[in-house]
Amino acid sequence: MARARCSSIILLLGLLCSSLPPSPSASETTATTTRRSKSESEILRFDGKGRFKIVQVADMHYADGETTPCLDVLPEEVPGCSDLNTTAFLNRIIMAENPNLIVFTGDNIFGLNAADSAKSMNAAFAPAVHSKIPWAAVLGNHDQESTLNREEVMKHIVSMPHTLSRLNPPLSSCDGDHIDGFGNYNLEVHGPIGSKLHNKSILNLYFLDSGDYSTVPSIPGYGWIKPSQQVWFQKTSSELQRRYKTGPEAQKRGAPGLAFFHIPLPEFSSFDASNFTGVKQEGISSPSINSGFFTTMVEAGDVKAAFIGHDHVNDFCGKLTGVHLCYAGGFGYHAYGKAGWPRRVRIVVANTNPMNGAVKSIKTWKRLDDPSLSTIDVQTLWRNNSSGRRKKGIQGVI
Ligand SMILES: *[C@@H]1O[C@H](CO)[C@@H](O)[C@H](O)[C@H]1NC(C)=O
Ligand SMILES: *[C@@H]1O[C@H](CO)[C@@H](O)[C@H](O)[C@H]1NC(C)=O
Ligand SMILES: *[C@@H]1O[C@H](CO)[C@@H](O)[C@H](O)[C@H]1NC(C)=O
Ligand SMILES: *[C@@H]1O[C@H](CO)[C@@H](O)[C@H](O)[C@H]1NC(C)=O
Ligand SMILES: *[C@@H]1O[C@H](CO)[C@@H](O)[C@H](O)[C@H]1NC(C)=O
Repeated sequence: MARARCSSIILLLGLLCSSLPPSPSASETTATTTRRSKSESEILRFDGKGRFKIVQVADMHYADGETTPCLDVLPEEVPGCSDLNTTAFLNRIIMAENPNLIVFTGDNIFGLNAADSAKSMNAAFAPAVHSKIPWAAVLGNHDQESTLNREEVMKHIVSMPHTLSRLNPPLSSCDGDHIDGFGNYNLEVHGPIGSKLHNKSILNLYFLDSGDYSTVPSIPGYGWIKPSQQVWFQKTSSELQRRYKTGPEAQKRGAPGLAFFHIPLPEFSSFDASNFTGVKQEGISSPSINSGFFTTMVEAGDVKAAFIGHDHVNDFCGKLTGVHLCYAGGFGYHAYGKAGWPRRVRIVVANTNPMNGAVKSIKTWKRLDDPSLSTIDVQTLWRNNSSGRRKKGIQGVI
């Protein structure tokens, strides 16, 4: 692995090999993962109510707009139904939830039916752009099937207004770090202005490219999260946790994290109706091999939930070994679905503890594209149950 190749250089160059700046104090940047500094307006942070809300949009499957018909709607809903209904749903949900971040988890466009990738993306993301709310996207397996390849699609997304999406992490100075895929990056969410933790990332968001299809002849099916991406995730997670636990306002445990990508991990098959919330109405279309990213997340210890799309008529969320695995359910009208089963969107909200500014809980629910934007399946994904107080008695004895 890349890490073994450069381990001796790591010893020599030390922190230079990290893709993160050495430490907050040694850098003018307020804990950004790139070396350029960020202005306050570019930093994601919890709002004045100590809240950070994410809207997760899975599988818009946008094509050419008004001329692109809806799939799997009731016969009476077919006339006048098009990609514009996907746009209308996105506008409604942004108005209703007023999120702090909008995350698109791939198959943003359905390339096979889109005449021009860039035009299709511009139309698909337009409600997010017009809202001026920060947004982030990853690729699915259909985004590259029109006029642009995966790298070009991701570059186009990165160039759009108000997006925080990035092509990939900056190459580290140590091993030329090739990373597989396009659109592997992380975002930090700082504590509310005025809180003790306003200079620290109290919620870490990881975005990964889960690929499209296997290119290994002996392995059929979908792509997977590669070792190079997992090494990047491990390094990033461990550096973010180190920073949270050191320096000013040092915390005892790492800040919670959330991961976003497109294709389900094989572990999404670990559940049935007795231990998930939501529905499973089709098989789990994960890659046919397990590249180990679930284990990597559990080992890293900070990720509390992973959010994906891909299987449009599954919308469940279940917990395995301390990590929730969550589908959003299909959003787009030019995506296969189930007639009479409304298109939907997942909402994720983290709240802080006003006493110390750290994240207290992470909750989720879904909203349906029906007349009242019905809310369903409210769940608590994580709760900080540590008091933060030292057990003085025990410590005294030791
Ligand atoms: C699609 O949008 C049109 C125009 O607003 C609306 O009349 C129709 O009910 C929508 N169809 C569905 C399935 O939501
Ligand atoms: C946050 O960082 C700024 C500049 O980087 C510094 O002026 C300020 O004192 C810091 N605040 C806290 C609470 O650490
Ligand atoms: C969910 O329950 C089924 C039995 O109904 C069991 O086989 C499976 O291991 C459970 N999964 C988890 C993650 O607990
Ligand atoms: C905190 O929650 C974890 C699992 O969610 C549990 O194992 C642990 O015992 C809890 N700790 C306290 C102090 O309640
Ligand atoms: C959990 O809360 C305690 C005190 O309320 C705080 O010290 C600790 O940093 C929090 N944990 C995380 C991971 O934010």
